Amino acid sequence: MPVADFTGFGDDFNADPYPYYARLREDGPVHRVTVTEGQEAWLIVGHDEARYALNHPALSKNWQDSGHWEDLKVTAANANMLEADPPHHTRLRKLVVRAFTARRMEALRPRVQQVTDELLDAMAARPGRTADLIAALAFPLPMTVICELLGVPDLDRARFRYWSQEIVAPPAGVPDNLALAELSGYLADLIAAKAEDPGEDLLSALIRTRDEDGDRLTSDELIGMAFLLLVAGHETTVNLIGNGIRALLAHPAQLAALRADFDGLLDGAVEEMLRYDGPVENATFRWAREPLEVGGTLIPAGGSVLVCLAGADRDPARFPEPDTFDIRRGPQGHLAFGHGIHYCIGAPLARIEGAIAVRSLLERFPGLAEDPAAGPRDWISGTLMRGVVKLPVRW
Ligand code: HEM
Repeated sequence: MPVADFTGFGDDFNADPYPYYARLREDGPVHRVTVTEGQEAWLIVGHDEARYALNHPALSKNWQDSGHWEDLKVTAANANMLEADPPHHTRLRKLVVRAFTARRMEALRPRVQQVTDELLDAMAARPGRTADLIAALAFPLPMTVICELLGVPDLDRARFRYWSQEIVAPPAGVPDNLALAELSGYLADLIAAKAEDPGEDLLSALIRTRDEDGDRLTSDELIGMAFLLLVAGHETTVNLIGNGIRALLAHPAQLAALRADFDGLLDGAVEEMLRYDGPVENATFRWAREPLEVGGTLIPAGGSVLVCLAGADRDPARFPEPDTFDIRRGPQGHLAFGHGIHYCIGAPLARIEGAIAVRSLLERFPGLAEDPAAGPRDWISGTLMRGVVKLPVRW
């Protein structure tokens, strides 16, 4: 099979990768590609095939067994549940998942609203009626919520933002091992302090947690858990808010309909934002422990696999007229939160944050628009995340 080489793809691809994925999909659901960062992988762009692969036990997340990416240092931080297979994954997930029930997340609603209102107050008070929406709302809202939830009150946010970007969407293409080591050290200190002096927060609860069998998290596992929740808990939601607002501002009729009926349309609009331009362009890399067939293509043992969520959620076989942004579509079954055993734990929280941010922003700023004076967009680089670095708006 020929290899589709993405390495030379530049801003056009980052700005709008969907036509590229659509062209590949027209030729079949599975392709060999060299991604922009240079790694070779099997890219799955069909919806049914993506769902099948995300649930397939032969596709492993345990890189320590793979012999791939020797340069990537395995630390306590990245040896977390998203990088683990059953039964280890099952055990880690079970110990944390009960903290993330939809009911518990619902209880956070008033605080999410309060943080949003404070951020919008600060935005409204800015001179010149312009702001970068990422810096003003999309980044600080999920960051504040996840830090409060975990009990990280005085986290140095600028440093944390740097670490997290270097690891999740590294400008240099490969995750920065120094950032990983620094963040691991920071979290180890934090966990040691909480073990001495616990609070009411989730991290203290995880330190105390024992399940029915007396099982508990080791200190390395706690570092991994804190790392994953902090990074997964904000890098993604930033782009739900950023990409979602961009889509609405680019579709005035949809925006007007939503403004006229938040109660009836808001939840569906958030789902369509996730489907149409979700924050996670490709799920995290998997590798084949044994050969497997996906959509008629044999993926050999040892092959790296990327499930393209952006491609899968624009598959016309699953979503009619997939390139149309339609907040009344009801896009049940989209894959923006993944599928199978690694399905996103934070989905209920992300949906609450997204809905509150979008509604409150639109209610507060009736004339909100993108700022045409801001020049060309700067896109997050790399294969994993999709979104803009800044979103200049005016009102
Ligand atoms: C709109 C926001 C979000 C999106 C689009 C999103 C998307 C995803 C996706 C696609 C996966 C699966 C990755 C894979 O299989 O390779 C995932 C896993 C995960 N997410 Fe999210 N996420 C979001 C918000 C959050 C939040 C707010 C939290 C935590 C508070 C969170 C915590 C996690 C965790 C812990 C996992 C790993 C689960 C496992 O390995 O079993 N996410 N997320």
